[in-house]
Amino acid sequence: MASKYQAPRGTFDVLPEQARTRARVEGAAAAILARAGYEPIATPTFEDTELFERGVGRSTDIVRKEMFTFEDKGERSLTLRPEGTAPICRAYLEHGMHKLAQPVKLSYVGPFFRHERPQAGRYRQFHQIGLEAIGTDSPLADAEAIMLLSDLLGELGVPGVELRLGSLGSLDSRAAYLEELKAHLHAHEGELSKDVRERIDVNPLRAFDSDDEGTRGVMASAPTIVAGLEGEDAEHFAEVRALLDAAGTSYVIDPTLVRGIDYYTRTIFSFVCDALGAQSEIGGGGRYDGLIEQLGGPATPAVGWAAGIERILLALDEEEQPAGRDAFVAIADPDQRQRAMALAVELRHAGLSAEIDLAGRGLKGQLKHADRLGARRVLILEADGSAQLRDMKTGVQRAADTGNLVDEMTGGET
Ligand code: HAM
Repeated sequence: MASKYQAPRGTFDVLPEQARTRARVEGAAAAILARAGYEPIATPTFEDTELFERGVGRSTDIVRKEMFTFEDKGERSLTLRPEGTAPICRAYLEHGMHKLAQPVKLSYVGPFFRHERPQAGRYRQFHQIGLEAIGTDSPLADAEAIMLLSDLLGELGVPGVELRLGSLGSLDSRAAYLEELKAHLHAHEGELSKDVRERIDVNPLRAFDSDDEGTRGVMASAPTIVAGLEGEDAEHFAEVRALLDAAGTSYVIDPTLVRGIDYYTRTIFSFVCDALGAQSEIGGGGRYDGLIEQLGGPATPAVGWAAGIERILLALDEEEQPAGRDAFVAIADPDQRQRAMALAVELRHAGLSAEIDLAGRGLKGQLKHADRLGARRVLILEADGSAQLRDMKTGVQRAADTGNLVDEMTGGET
């Protein structure tokens, strides 16, 4: 019975059987982040386009190719948010959160949009869970953020996860490093892929991400930022590592780790999962000490991450069993309709799950339907006002006292 309409390319419907596992993932994240003091925040689904151009960076793939940008009726350029960090920093400034006790620790969950080529684990509308700790440059905040994502993936039981850790240094040392890297790339221009060659001066870091064989050869001998970290940058990175070591969080240092967004400074990290195939990153993030200033605020260091809910679900590859029902109120005679509804409502108000037939089935059909729903007990209302209680597991049926309904439904086996 397919209609000619389908969910747009790269998007998907979340059907009830998938919604249950999703709810478990979101619930686990909410509990873990709340226990660590991260307060929920929600920002609009679209923002001024310029926020992302300035925040995410004009040279990134996200801004160059992947944004869903449109004009509203007032000819303002708006963009469906491709990520959550720039909007949260905008909100932090807009609401004067820099006047609160620092850091401000925030968590979020919601839909994000990128016009990427769809494949397993990569969609045009996807969902992230994330956190941001704004207003501290302490390595403790980096380590806390990393451990929280590690805890979440551990509690959910995501298999085969590896944490990769790197550092980009501060803004200044990063600028110096980028010049060194550009020089290396220019010296080997002939061996690079066209795409990388054309963007040497715009975004040289992306060369580390290339699949092209020639480019990979050049990158194998490229200078790495991690090797060149100095002074406070090196100390910061060492402290983050020491904190993770002390907590027993295992990681591998990846000196070539890069991320597709421009705002990162110092610590960056990525949780990858081997069950995921090509889109192997389940979540990641890092420090972004220059972003708030870039958006017009005071210099404010910050760190955070986001994890893709769909990628977590793919890695878990499981469907939660339906919850079943405590009760189904069936009627042996159509005249009992009102009474059935009143009794079901009474059960619901007492905190039980209860359904009635909404489709005009005969008694046999109702019992079959109750079984399909996983109802544990069925109350059958007879035409003479009496009632029977049927235990669906044992098949045992006996007279029931509807004056004592909740007890009848929650008592021991009938
Ligand atoms: P990101 O690495 O661009 O970072 O995205 C974070 C996560 O979102 C990825 O690891 C992935 O699981 C998921 N994701 C990204 N794109 C897609 C897609 N097209 N389809 C499905 N899942 C996707 C950020 O967005 C940063 N805002 C993270 C951050 C927060 N950094 C600091 N604070």
